[in-house]
Amino acid sequence: MYRWLDERLSLTRFNKKFLRKAFPVHHSFFLGEITMFAFITLVLTGIFLSFNYEPSTRIIKVAGRELPAAYASILYIDSLPFGAVLRSVHHWSANIMIAAAFLHLLRILVTGAYKKPREINWLIGLGLLGVAVVTAFTGYSLPFDAFSVTATQIGYGIGASMPYIGEWISKVIFGGEYPTMHSIPRIYSLHVLWFPLLLMALLGLHMLIMIKQKHTQPAYAKKVAPGKILGVPMMPQQGFMMTILYLLYLAVVFFIAGTWIAHPVEAFGPPTASTPAVKPDWYFLWIYGILQIIPGDFKIALPGDAVINSEFIGGVLIPGLLGLVAVLLPFVDTRKTKQRYLELPTRHPVRTSITFALLAFMLTTTLAGWKEEFGFSNGTLWAIIIIGTLATYIASYLIIIAYWGKPPKGEAGELEEA
Ligand code: HEM
Repeated sequence: MYRWLDERLSLTRFNKKFLRKAFPVHHSFFLGEITMFAFITLVLTGIFLSFNYEPSTRIIKVAGRELPAAYASILYIDSLPFGAVLRSVHHWSANIMIAAAFLHLLRILVTGAYKKPREINWLIGLGLLGVAVVTAFTGYSLPFDAFSVTATQIGYGIGASMPYIGEWISKVIFGGEYPTMHSIPRIYSLHVLWFPLLLMALLGLHMLIMIKQKHTQPAYAKKVAPGKILGVPMMPQQGFMMTILYLLYLAVVFFIAGTWIAHPVEAFGPPTASTPAVKPDWYFLWIYGILQIIPGDFKIALPGDAVINSEFIGGVLIPGLLGLVAVLLPFVDTRKTKQRYLELPTRHPVRTSITFALLAFMLTTTLAGWKEEFGFSNGTLWAIIIIGTLATYIASYLIIIAYWGKPPKGEAGELEEA
């Protein structure tokens, strides 16, 4: 059978060319893989959900209650055997994908793996993270319960706040001034077709470039075989490890999803005229926090009736500036040699401390998302954010220098300890 296929498809040549690629074995390299497993799980559980979900806001009668069809179809999914668990696995996997992609980004950042020749893959990775977050947001809108309608309205408002073009963009994406009868079909098409296709295309490119350029090598490679690419072949060893990791992923996510059913629509109820107090998911909380502490009446008038308002500053400008810095990073922080080994974070105290300061910024702005509950004033929260971010930078820098000393110049910055 193998010979028959080999004669027609040149399997042996394919095996030699692609499946014997060397994969370095290092725990931090599993983060990219976990992101990929979460995505695969999202697609598989998403197929089940799409078989049973109705993308419509028309009102139907179910057991004497008048409900939007989209909302009623989620209740139907929850009533199917394993329906609630599979929906919960889908929701948890979205959270895991975003968390794992962010940790993967941090790993690339603190080890300098974004530098030449990997700038393109860094940019594609940023695109992947951005599209993953937007896909999760569109998924939130679909149950059309009181929570999701309010959260989507916040998203609509942020999009519409962009001077001159915002309103037009938001109306195209949300099918008019959200919520209209066109909103859910449009968001559904983006969520189940266009964004997943884009993610698959970007992911395919990400993997092809990674295989072509090869991984950056972890520390032990330099000790064991300096100058050589070290690792286990993709097939069977790496494939075997990935299978085990994926099975482990499934075990953990099914346990979590079964124990804590995500987004219980029945508890939120169908949309009502009053707006419930909702907080977005954790990955949007830092943006929500910034929005909380910029006075709502803040406005700068622009020519032609346009304004810069607080929603634009908190929801578009600040995240956009951070994104721009990330895009420019590999072109500003350059190196002359072809990077082969991972850099040791403690040998690059400035970059590592900036990474910690960025995390402190995101954590303190997330804290601002609980402004009401903690009873903090805007001034106190701004002070916590600014002082917290600067103090984290200084403390991380001093700790690194105190424990590991000043970094030597040149190539010594590469990982030399296992
Ligand atoms: C969101 C979906 C993503 C998936 C599924 C994904 C998947 C992967 C996988 C499986 C690898 C190889 C294993 C590893 O190095 O961890 C990898 C490598 C890489 N990824 Fe991602 N990634 C994603 C997002 C990102 C992001 C957000 C960035 C950074 C902005 C990024 C930048 C890179 C780079 C530069 C490499 C090569 C690393 C090296 O050679 O050491 N990726 N990715």
